[in-house]
Amino acid sequence: MAVLTESIQVERVAKSRLSSIDFNNLGFGAHISDHMLVVDYKDGQWKEPKIQPYGNLDLSPAMLALHYGQSVFEGMKAFKNDAGVITIFRPERHHKRLLKSLERMCMPAVPEELFLNCLSALIEVDADWIPTTEGSSLYLRPFVFASEAKLGVKVADEYKFIILTSPVGPYFAKPVRVKVEEEFVRAAEGGTGFAKCAGNYGGAFYPTMLAQKQGFDQVLWTDAKDHAYIDESGAMNVMFVIDGKLITPKLSTSLLDGVTRDSILVLSKSLEIEKEERRVSVAELQEAFKKGTITEAFGVGTAAVVSQIAMIHIHGVDNNLPAVDVNSFQLRVKKKLNEIRMGLSPDVHGWNYLVRG
Ligand code: COI
Repeated sequence: MAVLTESIQVERVAKSRLSSIDFNNLGFGAHISDHMLVVDYKDGQWKEPKIQPYGNLDLSPAMLALHYGQSVFEGMKAFKNDAGVITIFRPERHHKRLLKSLERMCMPAVPEELFLNCLSALIEVDADWIPTTEGSSLYLRPFVFASEAKLGVKVADEYKFIILTSPVGPYFAKPVRVKVEEEFVRAAEGGTGFAKCAGNYGGAFYPTMLAQKQGFDQVLWTDAKDHAYIDESGAMNVMFVIDGKLITPKLSTSLLDGVTRDSILVLSKSLEIEKEERRVSVAELQEAFKKGTITEAFGVGTAAVVSQIAMIHIHGVDNNLPAVDVNSFQLRVKKKLNEIRMGLSPDVHGWNYLVRG
């Protein structure tokens, strides 16, 4: 299906809400831009996309997504540099992951051309919503859900693909304190942990709420069988520097294939650090804290970017990480990533997708 960006129908807002936004105090996800993009799937095909004012939708309370959970999403970012160039970071890779999530949830594929053109068109319409202050960006939230109204347990025949955008600042206001989870499970091998489906997040709320009541910010999920190996942290993948090596849990069906995770592993080469993608046991972390060989821990993700972990709670013990300085790997790689995305460093990997040159 060929969709030309210029041919997407646009209904503009009567009055923009832009002047009510405090761009110096954005937070994460609090503001949705003026417009959204909506595409319907019916009779086995995606219909014409439409850009319309952001607002409520007319949907049935019997729609299948609400009852049986066919709902998946992506999270991406768009940037505008000082020269006014607008780019999206690695949308093709996000699209590949979306396809995997859709397949796992028995939902129809969104063609790459439709995905990219819809993103570009929406960003063009709300280009003034892209923040330019350091550490901020326009967060892009494409999602697909089953909109067919029926109570029978079945794969839906009707869906909606919607894109919202939101000007955002940093996801975490300060370094995070995480708790290694030993009771609850986010995902088991063979389940949906690798898919970005809504239920993975809903299921994580209760254990995370309990952890927050105990004074932690996030949960560090472990494998479903023995709670012996680290998986991820729900809203981000995790990385450690142990014995001077960058170490991250290897991908499996129970953890998300993070685009930032991949980008950092690629950049590790030019930043001259040895990397290992492998199983990381809780016992190894405990030992590394005992010996003092673990020097860094951080979360990585589109929203989190590179977020410092200050403390890891393991089996009742708070293990503090050393302070981070400009020579730390996490600050060096964060800087490099930001420079590439803002066009300040050559984009040798072809990660920036041009929306407006
Ligand atoms: C992202 O990093 O884009 C995420 O999806 C994490 C969270 C905001 C749900």
